[in-house]
Amino acid sequence: MKRDQWLSATGPVLCVVGARPNFMKMAPILRAFAARTPPLPTLLVHTGQHYDADMNDRLFVDLRLPVPDLNLEVGSGSHAVQTAEVMRRFEPVLETHRPSCVLVVGDVNSTLACTLVAVKKYIPVAHVEAGLRSFDRSMPEEINRVLTDQIADLLYTTERAAHDNLAREGIDASRAHFVGNVMIDSLLASRTLAIPPQETMRRGGFEPSAFDVDAGFGVVTLHRPSNVDREETLGPLLAVLRDVSERLPLVFALHPRTRANIDRFGLGELVSGRRMAMLPPQGYLEMLGLMSAAALVLTDSGGMQEETTALGVPCLTLRENTERPITVLQGTNTLVGRDPGAITRAVDEVLSGRGKRGRVPELWDGRSAERIAAHLADWLVRRHAPAAA
Ligand code: UD1
Repeated sequence: MKRDQWLSATGPVLCVVGARPNFMKMAPILRAFAARTPPLPTLLVHTGQHYDADMNDRLFVDLRLPVPDLNLEVGSGSHAVQTAEVMRRFEPVLETHRPSCVLVVGDVNSTLACTLVAVKKYIPVAHVEAGLRSFDRSMPEEINRVLTDQIADLLYTTERAAHDNLAREGIDASRAHFVGNVMIDSLLASRTLAIPPQETMRRGGFEPSAFDVDAGFGVVTLHRPSNVDREETLGPLLAVLRDVSERLPLVFALHPRTRANIDRFGLGELVSGRRMAMLPPQGYLEMLGLMSAAALVLTDSGGMQEETTALGVPCLTLRENTERPITVLQGTNTLVGRDPGAITRAVDEVLSGRGKRGRVPELWDGRSAERIAAHLADWLVRRHAPAAA
């Protein structure tokens, strides 16, 4: 058997997605696998962690992701229930499809759950976006990152600091490979397709006479449990954003968790101002259009810290820490936490033209998925056909 033929003989690379931030990472990887000669065979499994049309279906279309081969339909639940349910439903998939390896991305509950099942069945796991650390173990994602990296076989990283983090946790350097940022592959591949903000606002029911994006605007997203799950934190955050909107109109794209908590805590009054536009979660191309044209972005998202750095748009991160330090050191990101004074001062800086300009980090060049495909194909051949390699 020829070297490359081993690849199709060893079973597919089982690619896992579960929640919204996984989709923009997986799309370029699947395209890069398909573009190889011969193509790397894949099986796309969706755990169903996110399931709403706004959180899921639109992004599949925007990112040109294929319909998943399997959907485990786990839905929402506590961390324990959700993680356990993914594990329970994922195990038989491995038995039926006998993949050559499982590829997971990011840090959501589905990432850890599928990794744990695969390694205990002696199936190698590749983790894309490995080694990022916020050093805040109260974040569920930090637990998912630390544990996934401990047990996965191949660790693909987006920035060099990730290698220091992995080394500190005793992980052998030979498992880690610096490939760049697949999320930026998606961004660069989609830039020309971005939907103009005027169009997004019209679709959201805001006519230019009521909310004129041409006069400049900021984009807000908030969904971290630490920011939105308690009235004592969500209330003051929304109050300072209302004050910011007096100077710069704000477009919110509201995660269902945040929407529900605003209603539950009776905070609707704080987001009802004429200069605050509340939209449901947006598609990928709408968000890209909004971010690209924004004067600044205020967010607690991980991905948007990176996307704004790639776009050169100032980003104020409403968290005390970031697992993506390169966006602060080299990019346009500033950590402002939840302190109203710090947020106001940072907004002032941006509006007076002193916002960070930044530069695009190493290997955030649109070719990261290609590098992963080349490395993984080679690794699989070596593993399964040592004599032919
Ligand atoms: C998850 C990820 C987080 C990521 C975020 C992006 C974990 C631990 N967290 O958080 O890292 O930044 O996705 O959105 O995996 N809901 C819906 N519709 C959906 C999905 C969720 O209404 O399609 C609501 C449900 O009320 C659910 C809640 O959102 O209980 C939270 O969903 P969940 O998947 O548990 O976590 P996210 O907050 O979305």
